Amino acid sequence: MNIHTYEKTWLAVAMVLIVGFIATVTYGAVGPGIAMIDDDGGSIDPDTINDDERFSETGVTHVGGNEYEANIVAQAWSYSPSEITVPANSEVTFYVTSRDVTHSFTVVGTNINTMVVPGEVSQMTAEFDEPGEYGILCNEYCGEYHHTMEGKLNVVPEDEFDMTEVSADAPDEAELGNETTITTTVSNGMQDELETTATLEIGDQTVEQDVTVPADGSEDVEFTVDTTELGTDDHDWTVTVDGHEDSGTLTVTDGSEGGDGDA
Ligand code: CUA
Repeated sequence: MNIHTYEKTWLAVAMVLIVGFIATVTYGAVGPGIAMIDDDGGSIDPDTINDDERFSETGVTHVGGNEYEANIVAQAWSYSPSEITVPANSEVTFYVTSRDVTHSFTVVGTNINTMVVPGEVSQMTAEFDEPGEYGILCNEYCGEYHHTMEGKLNVVPEDEFDMTEVSADAPDEAELGNETTITTTVSNGMQDELETTATLEIGDQTVEQDVTVPADGSEDVEFTVDTTELGTDDHDWTVTVDGHEDSGTLTVTDGSEGGDGDA
């Protein structure tokens, strides 16, 4: 049987196309560097999200080195938290689940785009090399206010990123002549020890104390305040640690009226 040259040519072209299509589809599924959203994140009962270790406290946690985890809950019509901040040069694994209906978690301008199905935890890892701001939005129609469902991802320069939290606690009042204490709690969200200085300013006094906070822990710093030096009045105070501050007012009262101070 003799096959016409044109027919042979078209046969060959058709074969090349078929092989090309199969190769494209295969590469898109299992090619190097291509990851499918799968059930790695596991399943979850949407009614017990608040009790789940990962989602009871949503937000960013430090895993170690340049690795972070972001735990996010989607619900009609918002993300919790609505704003995520991570440092540049980081590798972030997102775990996203839904409290109600199917949503999506889409970070505009990146390849982070996943459906968020109630009962499932969507997991994906991305690297952020440069500082920048990205919008987060929902791509799955999820009801009346679907179009308002959005969030924000901030990638900040490494030296601007920190997970330190500071809160200070002091009595509102102290009697003249007594000592009183302002307790400052420094929480360290990183998996590395934090060495820093806490500064108390009250009246015209400034007191500094060095503090070492263990990885992923917290430490109390106690400032002892001498009320005699301050005198009777309202005294505003501020505690500062690495740019974080907390403040309040201490009223020093005259203890002479029925006070049992030993001044
Ligand atoms: Cu959530 Cu659309």
